[in-house]
Amino acid sequence: MPAPRDSYNPDMHVARTLPELTHYCARLREGRTALALVPTMGALHAGHRALVDAAVGTGAATVTSIFVNPLQFAPTEDLSRYPRDEAGDLATLDACGCDLVWMPDVATMYPPGGATTVDPSGPAERWEGSHRPGHFRGMATVVAKLFGQVRPDVAFFGEKDWQQLQVVTRMVADLHLPLRIVGVPTVREADGLALSSRNRFLSEAERRRAPNLYQALARTAQAIAAGGSAAELLHAARAALAVDGFGVDYLALVDGPTLEPIATAQPRARLIAAARLGTVRLLDNIPVG
Ligand code: PAJ
Repeated sequence: MPAPRDSYNPDMHVARTLPELTHYCARLREGRTALALVPTMGALHAGHRALVDAAVGTGAATVTSIFVNPLQFAPTEDLSRYPRDEAGDLATLDACGCDLVWMPDVATMYPPGGATTVDPSGPAERWEGSHRPGHFRGMATVVAKLFGQVRPDVAFFGEKDWQQLQVVTRMVADLHLPLRIVGVPTVREADGLALSSRNRFLSEAERRRAPNLYQALARTAQAIAAGGSAAELLHAARAALAVDGFGVDYLALVDGPTLEPIATAQPRARLIAAARLGTVRLLDNIPVG
């Protein structure tokens, strides 16, 4: 079946095969100073749009990838529940001024015989790394493949997934990949809840409580920056979230780039958290001070 290429906007192309991708990337490189990549798994919201806007805003030709990557989901995590909205995503990207959408299928991304993965350590070891074994291996592998396929000069990632941003930055440095990684601040709802494609699975009652995670982070960060005892403040914040009905996987003060736990505020300090409300796992983080 021919790909429904060009059916949305004559200026924005959709590539579904590697030859199509190579063709359009070569065309985009002509006459443009840089090629930017925004990797996503689709179901795009204003958080993703901020990344595309940042890429387009640099004047780079912008490629957005949409690929729900099976390798970064554990068998216990419901890959089939991951939201998909191809028509809505293409309309969003079109409106943002994206130049090319890369939408490979699983067989294109993982052809038979594949025998190589990227196994990050360091910043990948704790937190999400221990709560979701194999997640960062799957994520780093697909991101490395996307970099090889698109060969961008720059790629944009959200601070919303702080640990992911650090793992990717470390991977690019360690593998001497010839591109720059740019982090984009977290986009939030008016009440502070970080935008996420998972928020749609919150019940009305859970949605009302969900901003408490951000509020706990903000309160705790401020008190730590003001010189309070981090250990006591973190303990109190975890307890308060538990009372609100959150299952707290972690709430920790870390060194931003390495994700190592730290005991006191310092310039690179970051508060990171993952907590469950019903079946929905919320991730958030903020700088301290
Ligand atoms: P996905 O969850 O679709 O997120 C794509 C990008 O959007 C990530 O860089 C993420 O940090 C960013 N993002 C999500 N919500 C955001 C928000 N509220 N504010 C700012 N940025 C936000 O992250 C992935 O996909 C995948 O792991 C991927 C990198 C595509 C590899 O498969």
